[in-house]
Amino acid sequence: MSDKTEPYIIFGSPIIGEDEIAALQRTAESCWIGTGPRVHEFQTTFAQYVGAKHAMAVSSCTAALHLSMVVSGVGPGDEVVTTPMTFCATANAIIHTGATPVFADCQRDTMNIDPAAIEAAITPRTKAILPVHFAGRPADMDAIGAIAKKHGLLVIEDAAHAIESVYKGRKVGSISDLTCFSFYVTKNITTGEGGMVTTGDPELAKKIQTYGLHGLSADAWSRFSDKGYKHYDVVFPGFKYNLTDLAAALGIVQLPKAEQWLRRRNEVWAIYDEAFADLPVILPAPAEPDTVHARHLYTLIVADDAKVLRDEFMVAMHKKGIGTGVHYRALHDHPYYAERWGYRPEQFPNAHWIGERTVSLPLTPKLTDHEVERVVRAVREVLGG
Ligand SMILES: Cc1ncc(COP(=O)(O)O)c(C=O)c1O
Repeated sequence: MSDKTEPYIIFGSPIIGEDEIAALQRTAESCWIGTGPRVHEFQTTFAQYVGAKHAMAVSSCTAALHLSMVVSGVGPGDEVVTTPMTFCATANAIIHTGATPVFADCQRDTMNIDPAAIEAAITPRTKAILPVHFAGRPADMDAIGAIAKKHGLLVIEDAAHAIESVYKGRKVGSISDLTCFSFYVTKNITTGEGGMVTTGDPELAKKIQTYGLHGLSADAWSRFSDKGYKHYDVVFPGFKYNLTDLAAALGIVQLPKAEQWLRRRNEVWAIYDEAFADLPVILPAPAEPDTVHARHLYTLIVADDAKVLRDEFMVAMHKKGIGTGVHYRALHDHPYYAERWGYRPEQFPNAHWIGERTVSLPLTPKLTDHEVERVVRAVREVLGG
């Protein structure tokens, strides 16, 4: 049966309600739409939320990752170990410093980087480990921290999916040297485009702030404020990675809703788990004890004995008016990484296996009960029987 008469369910559509629209309007009316007081407020509330000493807002998580590499001194000749089961921005941030991305396979069930594979990937050139909290499931930070300590490496976390994640009582964002968050449209909270770096290290924090705005000395953003003109010094050839107040205005009103929206995604998650238990799919692994899974992506593995392949499943869902996503085709299988870095599919068998079979279903808190029912019905129609 087709749901063609009903509106298309867009994968990852954000909630933009009256609060968000009012905040945007107030910001526009203030005429301070570039980087200013709202960015500062968002940084303060975000730092409090994750329990970090410092939070620096930037224009994207991609910018956050790149800056984190730069301020860590990662550069040509260095290697950074990361997972191939991630978005390309994770590895590209390493490459943009001139360093080499060294993949370590993920685990098949958690889809997170395997600490044993990290250990095996370390060489005298390794400078940092870059784990990704896949889908919002905290990576094994105790094991990763122990490896980093043993080899004297930095840990920079890609927490693009993990705004609400907690690992053994510690909020993601308060654990490692540097943690990078995303507020892209599909993320658990959004600023349209935006990101944040958190750290407990005041020197790294200062560098992130400075290098993220052309390398201008601190607070250059306020040089045209009503406090009077201030000279700035250029102390580094930096980047234009600052967040705007227009974007931060959205973040300020969305952040307090994060936990309530997580509760809704937990509800939808449980409905999906129950509804698909008898289908030829592998459900997401249960959350590890003593962690909070941020429920960013609900990923099914379409089993090899299902009557359709993953891509056919996606086409069938689309025909029923439901958008789905793939997170991710393994990075090492993409032409650039295969050709430039010589990676072969069989080198990271778990990421390759997941990448061929995984599909993400709509999970946004915007979904109504009726829409969740439509998703369930459609998945069962395509895969059941
Ligand atoms: C795991 C991961 N890392 C990094 C990014 C990059 O985030 P942004 O779009 O904010 O640059 C994303 C975004 O999709 C992501 O999913």
